[in-house]
Amino acid sequence: MKTSIHNPHFLLRRLHSLLGLLPVGGFLVFHLWENSQSRFGPLHYNEHVVGWLQGLNYLLLMELFVIALPLLLHAGYGLVILRSGRGNPGTYPWLHNRFHWLQRLSGVAILLFLLLHVGWTRILTIWEPGIKADLFGHMQSLLSHPLIFLLYLTGLLLSIFHLCNGLWSMAISWGLTTSAQAQTHWFYLCCALALMLSAMGVHGMLGFIP
Ligand code: HEM
Repeated sequence: MKTSIHNPHFLLRRLHSLLGLLPVGGFLVFHLWENSQSRFGPLHYNEHVVGWLQGLNYLLLMELFVIALPLLLHAGYGLVILRSGRGNPGTYPWLHNRFHWLQRLSGVAILLFLLLHVGWTRILTIWEPGIKADLFGHMQSLLSHPLIFLLYLTGLLLSIFHLCNGLWSMAISWGLTTSAQAQTHWFYLCCALALMLSAMGVHGMLGFIP
């Protein structure tokens, strides 16, 4: 019989889990912090936040190998996990069973949201370099449409839920929270992190609104 370590799905599941934490989760936290600086106004945001990032050495390589590739691998294997199991949110009425189902559903929603977000903010700048010079103004005009604002708010909150609920379930699968008490304590910490990140994310979004 194969031991877990010789089972490719076991190893891929671990890799998927690690990629969700770092670099994907780490980048999400950095990205929210970066955008929370919108509240300092267009000049600061365009010159000191976006300008600083765009001046980094090997930026394209970092974007491809530290952000895009890990996200694509996590999302790709996430879709494989999704295809291999069936959700049963109604069968067991426990909160964590519902959250487990929502974790998978939010993954698909985030994927669609990210395709739009990256298209609007990164791909579009290839044809329209003017957007790069004033990303603050670009985000401001996008977020001034109520539907797009709602879309961003939903994408933001789902991404934070997905990361924080993922952190809670990761601790079980990596054997870090083995007792019910440890799982409850970790749950409260994950909820606190989710609240903090949501406040920072919404603060950042509101910074673009005139
Ligand atoms: C903001 C981007 C994302 C972050 C920060 C993130 C983070 C995480 C984390 C930390 C986990 C927990 C891993 C574990 O339980 O071991 C996870 C699980 C998962 N993620 Fe993501 N993820 C992101 C995007 C996506 C996308 C785009 C998909 C596409 C389908 C996806 C699908 C999944 C699935 C299916 C699971 C496993 C659910 C389960 O069976 O327990 N994720 N993610």
